[in-house]
Amino acid sequence: MSAYLNNPQIWQESWDRQQEAFLPDREHRFAAMLDAVAAVTGGAAPRLLDLAGGTGSISLRTLARFPGAQVTVLDQDPVLLTIAESSLRDRATIVDADLSDPSWRSKLPHQEFDAVLTATALHWLPAERVGALYAEIREVLRPGGVFANADHMPEEGLPLLSEKLRDHARAEREARYASGASTSWPDWWARAAADEQLAPKSVERERIYPAREHGEEWTPPARWHVEALLAGGFGEAGVIWRGGTDAAVAAVR
Ligand SMILES: C[S@@+](CC[C@H](N)C(=O)[O-])C[C@H]1O[C@@H](n2cnc3c(N)ncnc32)[C@H](O)[C@@H]1O
Repeated sequence: MSAYLNNPQIWQESWDRQQEAFLPDREHRFAAMLDAVAAVTGGAAPRLLDLAGGTGSISLRTLARFPGAQVTVLDQDPVLLTIAESSLRDRATIVDADLSDPSWRSKLPHQEFDAVLTATALHWLPAERVGALYAEIREVLRPGGVFANADHMPEEGLPLLSEKLRDHARAEREARYASGASTSWPDWWARAAADEQLAPKSVERERIYPAREHGEEWTPPARWHVEALLAGGFGEAGVIWRGGTDAAVAAVR
């Protein structure tokens, strides 16, 4: 594959298609989270942290919706951060940090954000770390600032339907892969590894996410997140979006 970093939009589009195979309503959850940001800033350009932001999907949508936003993307994946850097250039601050380590906050360019958003990421962390991380996130929000996390959060009252929803989503995903409408997760990473500019970053990535792609996935219901956010010191917390077995929870400092 040729050096697509010269046109990072191509990598952004293929990442979006690959993620949408898992999350067909991905844009809806992003829009719901950005509505919460607009609500706490009165529509003004926010200072926003895109936590575990990967290629900067949330940052790009933030800048499109709020020109003048000050955006920081934090992640530890060298491939995704390279794509984020190429895409955002001087429009965002890029931070390479591991959220497993509580010192991640010391790498931020500011300690007072209007909003911290994260999507499809915190299930990579163990339960006890997510609880502690919520309290740390609160510390980098201004009073009245908002945090939102969209992730797999099945509805606990619907275990059988949730299983059927997951089966249905899996079948749809396989159909997308079979038709070529989107690239599967392993195929996307194989393409990145074959790209002349991203290949060295893929080697670095192997060291960060070695044996498996990431740890055991831990996906408690939204209620767990709401309670963890309140225990972490947020003034209020609740669900702002739901789609099938996924949800977005928000909390206000
Ligand atoms: C499925 S991707 C989602 C990326 C982006 N939020 C999006 O919606 O496109 C999950 C992201 O979480 C990041 N991540 C997982 N564990 C992390 C950690 N301990 N520290 C920093 N980033 C982490 C991964 O590197 C990856 O970019």
